[in-house]
Amino acid sequence: MSGFVFSEKPIEIASGDGVHITDTNGTEYLDFGASYACVPVGHCHPEVVDAATTQLEELMYVQASYPHAARTALYEGLAETAPVDVDNVWLCNSGTEANEAALKFARSATGRQKIVATTQGFHGRTMGALATTWKDKYKKPFEPLAGGVEFVEYGDTAAMMEAVDEETAAVILEPLQGEGGINPVSTEYLQAVRVATATSGAAMILDEIQTGLGRTGSLWAADRHDVVPDILTTAKGLGSGLPIGATLCRDWIAEDCGNHGSTFSGGPVVSAAAGATLDVIQRESLPAHAAEVGSYLRREAEARLGDDVRDVRGDGLMIGIEVRRGSNRVVRDLAINHQILALPAGRTVLRLLPPLTVDRDHADAVVDAIAEVVS
Ligand SMILES: Cc1ncc(COP(=O)(O)O)c(C=O)c1O
Repeated sequence: MSGFVFSEKPIEIASGDGVHITDTNGTEYLDFGASYACVPVGHCHPEVVDAATTQLEELMYVQASYPHAARTALYEGLAETAPVDVDNVWLCNSGTEANEAALKFARSATGRQKIVATTQGFHGRTMGALATTWKDKYKKPFEPLAGGVEFVEYGDTAAMMEAVDEETAAVILEPLQGEGGINPVSTEYLQAVRVATATSGAAMILDEIQTGLGRTGSLWAADRHDVVPDILTTAKGLGSGLPIGATLCRDWIAEDCGNHGSTFSGGPVVSAAAGATLDVIQRESLPAHAAEVGSYLRREAEARLGDDVRDVRGDGLMIGIEVRRGSNRVVRDLAINHQILALPAGRTVLRLLPPLTVDRDHADAVVDAIAEVVS
């Protein structure tokens, strides 16, 4: 018996420890996909496990209208680390819900409807977030979606300037596109989006669901680009695999955010796991470590893979390698022949999103394996 939405892989996973995952036959895999960036501090990090299990035994759940220490600590932890003034925190259960809230908050706070999104962007699969996602394959069967969304070319400053006007509630974009193929943009572009939104009174929503929590070499990609959005969303690695998302916003958004809610907003167990994850990321300086190992891996990949691949790109440990044959086949060969788990991003890009704790030896092993698979 299997589920019907995901097509399952022929590897049944039994356990995980650090950067490795083991299947039911005892075969160990180096996990360079980390289930789409969901394991920033490694599988089953003892501090995260301890925080979650201690909380589990004490109180599994109380709704967010009752203050609770684990949730309060997470509010504080996120607010302290977020770009300055983006310190009002809404907790939810996934990335798409974090963006759904961001879009609703922006509409409510501005009293406007129009949303500007970007080509190749991916913001989730619920009806609002999906409307701001670019690819038709995710959207078509579910239309009509939420209206009022205009798409502009990702990275095109002039197109963005033209699209953002007095009717715009928000611009939503990723600082480095993940699902769209690991597509970077310049600091100048992101700063121009900031200026365009500020000038027209629209909210800038930075979707850091994949880029956040140190993945690109700084805790938030916003920090590296010196951009302070009005709303920042994050999820994926926040709970080390337990489901949690967060929408952080400035006062002017929070003060007029409308009536939003969710039963499971920031339950004690997921909050405890997320608080511990955030602590480990900061204490062990994992963003700086990701920057160092990531640039080593990209350098080695460029040198070793040469013309066997079309491009190597990304920031920190969010890396895309554009291959000359289908990315799904490369992913399969890496898993079956080299016991390395990686991800596709579209049909031609191999995507690496390992735990931020990987080291140069792991990077060497992965580049060696890719070299063999693509040669
Ligand atoms: C940039 C970005 N935004 C939003 C989402 C949606 O997150 P979730 O799958 O947790 O709903 C994703 C997931 O891949 C993502 O990469």
